[in-house]
Formats: sequence, C-alpha cells, structure tokens
Amino acid sequence: MKHSGFDSVSSSQILRLTRKLELTPAQEQDFLDATQAGDRSRSALVITPKAPEGYIPPLPADESPRDWGHPAVIALPEGEPETKPGALPDYERGYYYPLDLSSVWETAPLEQLPFRPERCLDMCAAPGGKSILAQTRIAPREHVSNEVHPKRLGILRHNLLRCGFTGLYTQRLRPDQWAELAPACFDLILADAPCSGQSLLAKGIPNPGCFNPSVTGGNAKRQRGILLAAVRCLAPGGCLLYTTCTYAPEENERNILYLLKRCPELHTVAVPELEPFRSSLTQEACYRLMPFHGAGAGGFTCLLRREGERAQLPPLPEELLAWPIHAMTL
Ligand SMILES: C[S@@+](CC[C@H](N)C(=O)[O-])C[C@H]1O[C@@H](n2cnc3c(N)ncnc32)[C@H](O)[C@@H]1O
Repeated sequence: MKHSGFDSVSSSQILRLTRKLELTPAQEQDFLDATQAGDRSRSALVITPKAPEGYIPPLPADESPRDWGHPAVIALPEGEPETKPGALPDYERGYYYPLDLSSVWETAPLEQLPFRPERCLDMCAAPGGKSILAQTRIAPREHVSNEVHPKRLGILRHNLLRCGFTGLYTQRLRPDQWAELAPACFDLILADAPCSGQSLLAKGIPNPGCFNPSVTGGNAKRQRGILLAAVRCLAPGGCLLYTTCTYAPEENERNILYLLKRCPELHTVAVPELEPFRSSLTQEACYRLMPFHGAGAGGFTCLLRREGERAQLPPLPEELLAWPIHAMTL
C-alpha cells in the first residue's frame, strides 16, 4: 500500500466532506478506501506534434474512454505503470506528454465549443497539461500560456518546447494584471485553478491539511479572484473552462454559483458526454470525477459561456506576446 498522507488529516474532516458530497454508502466507502490506499492514479499519454506519424508508445495501452477521450490520448491501465512514462527516451524526445487521466476528463467540455477559438489564455498553465490538451482538442489559433510562478514558468516553457508546441506564447502575469491589460481579449480562457488538491491523496501523494476548512476556504477565495479576473478577459460569446483537482464543494460548485450571481452575463454549458458525472449538488451544469469512476484520482470541470455576439477580438498589446515558444529558444 502506498503512503497516502491520510494519517495526517483528520478523518472526521473527511467524513464531513463525504456527507456533503451526497454519496451512497458504497461510494462513501470507496472514497475512504481511495484516500487511504492512494492507488487510484491512472496515467494517460498525449501524443504530441513531435511524434512520428503513426507513433505507438512503448507502454501497455488500455482502451481510451470513448465518450470523453481523444484519438491522440492513450490511457494506460489502472494503477501505477511498471515503467514510468517519464523515464523512457521517447519522453525526452517529446513524443508524448504524460498526465493523469483526470486531466483528460476535465478538458472534455472543450469539444463542445461551437467555434474554433481565435485566442486562448491559459491563466494557470504550469506544468502545461491543460494547454497541451487544449491544443490537441481544439487548437486555438493564438494561445498564451500564463504562469505566475517563475520556476514553474520555466518548466512550462520546457515542456511545451520539448513536445513541439512551438506556436504558443508564454507569460508571467497575475490574473488581475491580465484583467487590467487585456479586457475582453480572449474567446477561450482556461482557469485550472490552484486548489487544496484533495485528489492527490488518491494518487498516493501526501497532502496534509487538504481537508481543513481553513485550507479549502482560503483556496476558494483565491479561486474566486482568479475567476472574476478571467471573466474580465472574456470576450462576448467566449467560453471559460473552470477546473480543479479537488473534491471540496466550496472550491467547485459553490464557486460557480458565486460567479453566476456576480456575472449574470454567464451561463453554464451542458456537456452530454459527461452526463454520468453530473454533480448532484447543483442544478447548474457542473461535473465531478470521483476515484470510484476508475478514470484517475478525480477532479471538477465546468464550462461557462458569456452571452453576446462573437466579434473581432481587440488587439493584444504586443508586450503580452513577448515570450513565444519557438524551436531555438528556451
Ligand atoms: C493546478 S495548477 C495548474 C496545472 C496546469 N494547468 C496543468 O494542467 O498542467 C495551478 C497553477 O496556478 C498557479 N497559481 C498559484 N497561485 C496563483 C494565483 N494567485 N493566480 C494564478 N495562478 C496561480 C500555480 O503556480 C500553478 O502552476
């Protein structure tokens, strides 16, 4: 059994959460088992533009989820892979980008977009999984991957370059700076917000305090700030994808309800492929992945659309496109 960090958090806090999630007794037991055993990560590989045509990775592949997967994403069998994808030469060659299958699930709503985005902002982008999945799923014409943390920005740039995503730009601004400098400039925004990361436990990664109400409350507040800034950057008719890798309703459904109240020009978008994952905690189109679904450690996703006619986007100030990813630079 892997070490899960379960001992370091109060089991009464976990029980309080499971009650809020309206789980059946069997699901509740499975949830407790998953957080204790830490054995529910499920890896996936995104095949990148660097891979040769028809490339098949040298790892045992499982069938990709038909409803919400993507042909360029390969799911690996449940459990920790014997050979770590990051340890193989093809990883260094950039032929694939490994991530948890939950991330693939979280980006499924992008397939619902009724348009190919002209300009995408990934507000919390490092290490790069969601940007890579957005490129793979819908290939926005212009794409800025933003990361506030300097060290993580370096990792993000390295990953994008290694995998051959050379048409993207990177930046290092705070969400409030984006709102100030680029109002209504994007027709797609990804807000994969920093969160309490409760699903790390199901992957066997210790995360002490992640069920503590002051931790989830603090994260919820920061996420609301990020979401409000994101809305200011969103053009009429544009879409905002909000995702987290945590189970706490205050960081998920309740933030969506807060946002809808503050921004009546937004509505949630239903994703038929994710109907089996529809959250019972709200009438809004919110989706939550739990460890018992067998598709990774878990997560939350919600696609929002801003009302209004799509029109030509305002030009982006040039200094915001100062750090492109191209083959010769890091
Ligand atoms: C969940 S991670 C993003 C993972 C990434 N989207 C991916 O799929 O690989 C959240 C990111 O938000 C960044 N972050 C932390 N605080 C932030 C803030 N106040 N505003 C914006 N981003 C923040 C973190 O440095 C971290 O890289």
